[in-house]
Amino acid sequence: MMQEWFTKAKLGIFIHYGIYAVGDVSESWSFHNGVISYEDYMKQCEGFTASKFDARKWAELFKKAGAKYVVMTSKHHDGVALFDTKYSDLSVVKKTPAGRDIVSEYTQAMREAGLKVGLYFSLIDWSDPRYRSVYPEGAKPEDCLNDIYGSPAGGPENPELWEEFLQFNNNQIRELMTNYGTIDLLWFDGDWERSAKQWRMPEFREYLHSLNPNVVLNSRMQGYGDYETPELNMPIYGIDKPWEFCTTINSSWGYRPSDNNYKTSRQIVRMFCDCLTLGGNMLLDVGPKEDGTLDPRQEKILLDLGSWIHDNEEAVYETGRGLNYHQFLGGSTISADKKTIYLFVYDKPLEYICVKGVKTRVKRITVLHTGEELKWHYTGGLPWFGIPGTLWIKADEMQLHPLTTVLKVELEDEITYNLGHGEVTHNE
Ligand code: GLC
Repeated sequence: MMQEWFTKAKLGIFIHYGIYAVGDVSESWSFHNGVISYEDYMKQCEGFTASKFDARKWAELFKKAGAKYVVMTSKHHDGVALFDTKYSDLSVVKKTPAGRDIVSEYTQAMREAGLKVGLYFSLIDWSDPRYRSVYPEGAKPEDCLNDIYGSPAGGPENPELWEEFLQFNNNQIRELMTNYGTIDLLWFDGDWERSAKQWRMPEFREYLHSLNPNVVLNSRMQGYGDYETPELNMPIYGIDKPWEFCTTINSSWGYRPSDNNYKTSRQIVRMFCDCLTLGGNMLLDVGPKEDGTLDPRQEKILLDLGSWIHDNEEAVYETGRGLNYHQFLGGSTISADKKTIYLFVYDKPLEYICVKGVKTRVKRITVLHTGEELKWHYTGGLPWFGIPGTLWIKADEMQLHPLTTVLKVELEDEITYNLGHGEVTHNE
């Protein structure tokens, strides 16, 4: 069920932690796509130590980053559980030198730090033969001949085994939702390999609510979730449902030592601003090393993002979707009382920046992180007829924020719009 905390949270941290951090391969997909054999992939279990894993340190860092919730992989498509499950031996507790229940330490530490606790759970299990007992709905067996991990590869279907598999997933999810205190959010993945009917989604949703009526569910439930999860691609117009944009910090979800393709802190702040402008959350991924520590580059980006949020906090949490991009060529948010616009200025202005289509007159404009007051004036418009004209803000001499400068535009009253020629704004 959608909860207010989620839409107000704005920033979550995604954690892809698992045996795939041992080598230099992608999580689960590497064996599925034949980059590495299944046996070699699983050998990574021997190198998963979690020797420096300290969930409290993670929590401290995530708080500094400004996050309000976290989502960690409890089990990826490879089927390796990060928790102690009595329904399978395939877990880091039983199969790796780590020998610890990562989910347990994680959930405790996050909750203690006041963060909402989310768990990623892959519906797909490419290690479990029972998962391979039925074909994707509508697929022809001959199309699945090479699909050795996902389908029965040309053989007959076994609906009973499929029932067992669904029961197995339900059992593990019950463990997750009853052994680790309140789980605030479940993040499913891999729904696309089977249909809503095959997953029994309506019943599944009810089942989850019977375990926690308040749990927030992501959309990867074949239409039965609470919010959308655009992945690695910003929805240009936003989405008319609650949503969360998930993104890697470099090019990988899990840790890969060879991946040096890091985004800059400015890019990350910019992406975050896009989410805020369009009314969504950002779920920023980190991939811890097998020992549980984070690459310093990941840590640095999180801290930079946190310092930007700290300097501009009132433009972030207690706000909603901003102006549309035709009104202001940048991002923005609007305060909860609708009397303030926060403009995100990404580049160095050469002279004036302008805002169009806002009828309510301006009272004062300041640079949020310094308090410096800026000069402004209007051109055009017939305010007594509700025709706003153009607001020009003199912005070439202001002190810029190194990551993104926020201008606080205080209005005389609640914001109203006139977009001219009967056009509709997203904010109305
Ligand atoms: C994709 C991939 C998976 C990753 C997820 C994160 O769905 O299957 O590897 O965990 O994206 O959004």
